[in-house]
Amino acid sequence: MSTFDSAPSRRGTGSLKWDKRPELQPFWVADMDFSSPPEVIEALHRRVEHGVFGYALPHDGLIQSILDYLNLRHGFAASPDQLVHLGGLVPALSLSCRAFAEPGNSVLTCTPVYPPFLHVHRDAGLNLVTVPYVYDKSQWVFDWESMEKSVGSDARVFLLGNPQNPLGRVFSRGEILQLAEFCKRHDLILVSDEIHCDLVLDEESTPHFSALQLPEEFAERTITLLSPSKTYNIAGMGYAYAVIPNQDLRRRFSAKQGHTLAEITCLSYYSAEAAYRHGEPWRRELVSYLRDNRNLLTAFCRDEIGNITIPDMEATYLAWMDFRPAGISDPAAFLEKQAGLFLSDGRLFGAAGHARLNFGCPRTLLEEAINSVRRALA
Ligand SMILES: Cc1ncc(COP(=O)(O)O)c(C=O)c1O
Repeated sequence: MSTFDSAPSRRGTGSLKWDKRPELQPFWVADMDFSSPPEVIEALHRRVEHGVFGYALPHDGLIQSILDYLNLRHGFAASPDQLVHLGGLVPALSLSCRAFAEPGNSVLTCTPVYPPFLHVHRDAGLNLVTVPYVYDKSQWVFDWESMEKSVGSDARVFLLGNPQNPLGRVFSRGEILQLAEFCKRHDLILVSDEIHCDLVLDEESTPHFSALQLPEEFAERTITLLSPSKTYNIAGMGYAYAVIPNQDLRRRFSAKQGHTLAEITCLSYYSAEAAYRHGEPWRRELVSYLRDNRNLLTAFCRDEIGNITIPDMEATYLAWMDFRPAGISDPAAFLEKQAGLFLSDGRLFGAAGHARLNFGCPRTLLEEAINSVRRALA
């Protein structure tokens, strides 16, 4: 019996995932059904008991926990002034567009991708250029030729997710180096969203290579966005940070915040600190549990059904499934009607015929979902 075999009921708790369509079993938005590590819950209790919730600043303990994390997990020795604290990663994507491009310029990203990547350009009056990833054997890779053809002289920013949501790719050192060189050649700022980087399912075979580990020459054009939010299931608390080693980039990024962002809450700071400081044993157990969930789902699609294409998912608890070989062109609608399941519609990510399934849940729930899909397909 694993800690992750059971989870509290979330119905009626104001959960986006569970309460938006209460008539369906939810496997959509990217949070998990597990309780956070006990140390995170205890830290929140302690802070709540203090009873005063005025404006907060990132306290020394939080900053030290981030510096230790960056050192340990990414081999990066940051200084506190290189961190920009934020209430979330999505605002940082938007801010990057506003900070590093002028209206009429363009921003580049590859698809399918987490939906806000396809919309944040509008906040800055930019044009969006998308280049599809290509499926090579059993995983998705960059299409370097199309990227070279698509990048115009007005391009300023490249938005990357690594690990990639929804493809589950952990890009290799070689791929990230090649991307950094592409950005340098075309004078682009590389914005690397690494929110899923502590959810790599097989760290030995597919280690995460952070943009923070790129050679020094790329630091002047790289910003890395991180948060403990996905890993420790505290996304609703609202805390993230950017690591921007280059002073000029950092100044431009921070200056564009203006008055567009809300204050960050004291509770989110304390939960983030506790997650980084005490969460590692819990995280290891979680990753092992998610790996088994991934294996179960992959075996179902590949060995039993055969005509749902699923890539080698190297990270996250999100599975990107292509239902077109099964003759299903709108899988989200099909699964809603025929199986009572709520999955994310691939079109939101820029790819029809696909659906994204969130397997960050107890195995029994995943097994029930698999049974529902099996019955619907039959
Ligand atoms: C790649 C990626 N970036 C950012 C986010 C959301 O970040 P935040 O809630 O901090 O805005 C998600 C959530 O699913 C995500 O998958």
